[in-house]
Amino acid sequence: MSKKLYKKITDELVNSGYIIIPHAMHNSLQSQLLTEAKETTNYKKASIARAVNKQIDSEKRRDSIRWLDRDDGAQSEFLNFTDGLGKYLNRELFIGIQYFESHFAIYEEGDFYETHLDDFKDSKNRVVTIVYYLNENWVNGDGGELVVYDEKNNFLAKVAPHADTMVIFLSDIFPHEVLKANKIRYSVAGWFRLDGSVS
Ligand code: OGA
Ligand code: MN
Repeated sequence: MSKKLYKKITDELVNSGYIIIPHAMHNSLQSQLLTEAKETTNYKKASIARAVNKQIDSEKRRDSIRWLDRDDGAQSEFLNFTDGLGKYLNRELFIGIQYFESHFAIYEEGDFYETHLDDFKDSKNRVVTIVYYLNENWVNGDGGELVVYDEKNNFLAKVAPHADTMVIFLSDIFPHEVLKANKIRYSVAGWFRLDGSVS
């Protein structure tokens, strides 16, 4: 099952550099992740760079995050999926991915994330971004869409954060933003990196 999805993702990353997959997993992973995201209490305000340069700028970014934990059931299942994807990408594309990092993100009503690239500042080693949405019953007007642009900032796609929708793109190519959410929005965001753990 995953193998077919890994191939589809890999082919699209080669063809266009990004892929949007509604109903990506077809199983209970999304609802279990949502439960774990809601049970999690230790969220922190997200910053816009890591380690030494860490700074919180609520004008640019307003979500709160908590790094995934391999000891929790659905999080470990998600990480097994991404481990397999990382290996598949390395084998097929010789990318040299060494590490995957990912977190839950909560956008409260009014939260947003301005247009940015994911390989900012000291995160140059991020090569592939994955976002997985957990929101059941998201409707027009709830906002919180991901908007993806090309290298020249031309509009490419607008994606509502529906449960089980997955978006994957090359981290250093596609600027993107999260529009203001009009209600609480849950997701997992992760990055395949060329280096080891730096957190
Ligand atoms: C990010 C990000 C997109 C989304 O966390 O870097 O761009 O749709 N997230 O949540
Ligand atoms: Mn991003």
